[in-house]
Amino acid sequence: MTHTAAAPMKAIILFDSKTSGGSTEQLIDSIGQKLAETGAYVEKAKCKATGDYSFVKEFDVVIMGAPIYYLLVASELLGALLQSNLKSCLQGKKIALFLTCGSPELMANLLYLPQLKLNLIGSTIIAEKIFAPDQLSDQNVIANYVDGLNIAYRSV
Ligand SMILES: Cc1cc2nc3c(=O)[nH]c(=O)nc-3n(C[C@H](O)[C@H](O)[C@H](O)COP(=O)(O)O)c2cc1C
Repeated sequence: MTHTAAAPMKAIILFDSKTSGGSTEQLIDSIGQKLAETGAYVEKAKCKATGDYSFVKEFDVVIMGAPIYYLLVASELLGALLQSNLKSCLQGKKIALFLTCGSPELMANLLYLPQLKLNLIGSTIIAEKIFAPDQLSDQNVIANYVDGLNIAYRSV
C-alpha cells in the first residue's frame, strides 16, 4: 500500500503598514515563522493599491492583514482590493484575515473587519482575527491563529 503525504501549504502574506519594522511587520514575521514550523512554504509581500497581483495564483492560501489608521484599514491593502486585480486573483483561494489596531477586539470586529470582508463576499475565509495591542506579541494568541488557519485549510 502506498501512502502519499499532503503537499505543503503555500501561503503568501499580503500586508500594508506605514511603519517599517512596526507592530504589523513583527506580527507577520511571527505568523510566518509559526506557519513555516508546521511545514508551510511562506512568503510575504507589501501591498500597493495599484499593484499586479497575478503572482498570488501560485499560492494556496492568501493571508491579508494591515493596521487601522484613522478608522480605516491601511490604504494600500484596502486600495488593492478596490482598484487592482487582487480581487479577481483571489478567486478559488483560501483567505485568512487579520488586523492590528488600538481598539478592543469586539469594537474592531464590528468596525474594521467588515471593511475587508465586504470586498470578499463569496470568498472562502478560513481565519480572521483582530490583534488588539495586548495580543500583538502574545505568542500563544498568534499560535492559536496559525493553528486555526491550518485546521481550516485542511478541512475546507
Ligand atoms: C496615525 C495612527 C492612527 C491610528 N488610528 C487608529 C484607529 O482609528 N483605530 C484603532 O483602533 N487604532 C488606530 N491606531 C493604532 C494602530 O492601528 C496600531 O497601533 C497598529 O498596531 C499600528 O501598526 P504599525 O505599527 O504597523 O503601524 C492608529 C495608529 C496610528 C499611528
